[in-house]
Amino acid sequence: MIDYDEIASNYSKHRDIHPKVLEGLISSENIKKGSNVLEVGCGTGNYITAICQTVGASSYGIDPSEEMLKKARARTGEVLFKKEKAENLDFEDCFDLIFSVDVIHHLDSPSQYFEKAYESLNKDGKICTVTDSEWIIENREPLSKYFPETIEADLERYPKIDELKTCMAEVGFTEIQGNVVEQTKQITDLQAYREKTFSVLHLITDEAYEEGITRMKKDLMKGPIRRISRYFLLWGTKK
Ligand SMILES: C[S@@+](CC[C@H](N)C(=O)[O-])C[C@H]1O[C@@H](n2cnc3c(N)ncnc32)[C@H](O)[C@@H]1O
Repeated sequence: MIDYDEIASNYSKHRDIHPKVLEGLISSENIKKGSNVLEVGCGTGNYITAICQTVGASSYGIDPSEEMLKKARARTGEVLFKKEKAENLDFEDCFDLIFSVDVIHHLDSPSQYFEKAYESLNKDGKICTVTDSEWIIENREPLSKYFPETIEADLERYPKIDELKTCMAEVGFTEIQGNVVEQTKQITDLQAYREKTFSVLHLITDEAYEEGITRMKKDLMKGPIRRISRYFLLWGTKK
């Protein structure tokens, strides 16, 4: 179990917006000036703040971690942030878009979240779950190469895309479909790995972690290490 209250400071230092995820969210016709948009598990608020500032949507964020929310509130006064869990959403026909990034694997009950999200959306409202598919987990660069133990840990932790699709269909979502986005970067320092910004690094043994860091350090001396950051965007519509 990751304690986001504990890691909020390091998290906000290293967590950047994935431009392709933002682009994907904004490309939805459900986001425009004046639409109501909710980010579930908003953490330090980077995505919902960007959406608010880029599109002018009426923007809301919920997260159960007070420390993450403190960082989010310090970022902007334009978004309304509330301490709440995804499974306890309590709105009726309110939002045009509800989305989450890297959150679904933290939920006790994704199906309860989908049920609540369905109730909270307007007719024709959309939900987008930004997550990692099994393929993405197995092919992460450089995480899976230097810390291969993270593959098993995350395959166990992340709900499978087909399971999510089934849960969504069961609560009534239609037009369920997904696409993958990716961005390549060059890593020139190990700070984010040393500070275990990737939550799965908290889930492997100290030995496995140290071994991976040592190998990364050695390779980094030869030049930058390629990082490919991929996400699966899973969409559904309330008809
Ligand atoms: C990996 S972080 C992602 C934060 C943000 N979405 C981002 O992409 O920067 C996961 C977030 O999920 C939140 N979280 C954990 N359990 C949750 C729950 N039951 N409902 C909503 N959010 C939850 C954590 O507090 C944390 O802020």
